Amino acid sequence: MSSRHDPAAGAIESTAHAGSYTARIEPAGIDIEVYAGETLFDAADREGYDWPTICGGQGTCTHCHVRLLDGDPQAAAPIDTEQERRAVTRLARRLYGDDPTGIRLACQLQLRGDVVAEQRTFRGERR
Ligand code: FES
Repeated sequence: MSSRHDPAAGAIESTAHAGSYTARIEPAGIDIEVYAGETLFDAADREGYDWPTICGGQGTCTHCHVRLLDGDPQAAAPIDTEQERRAVTRLARRLYGDDPTGIRLACQLQLRGDVVAEQRTFRGERR
């Protein structure tokens, strides 16, 4: 179940269940509940969002990528594949002035805490 940011309250209103985390996606301002063991990409799909992709979550297109802006440094499970490591390096070189900080593929990203992430082309549309 998703939730929306309430700027007046200054906090995420969440109806999350145990074993899940909130990913706030900016600039769309959408909160997505990500279950433990689930990727951000799969969580967005489960909630009906039209998340940017060409490869459908196979880790090859990089269109799903996010940049983590805020959250506990341990909130994102570490990169554990050479494929994602290479993709992050390419994205950093092409789009972020060679700075890989916080860049992740949403289709590979699992959470251990709440995060705020930028996804530049996601507008919060549902299918
Ligand atoms: S959906 Fe293609 S790399 Fe993640």
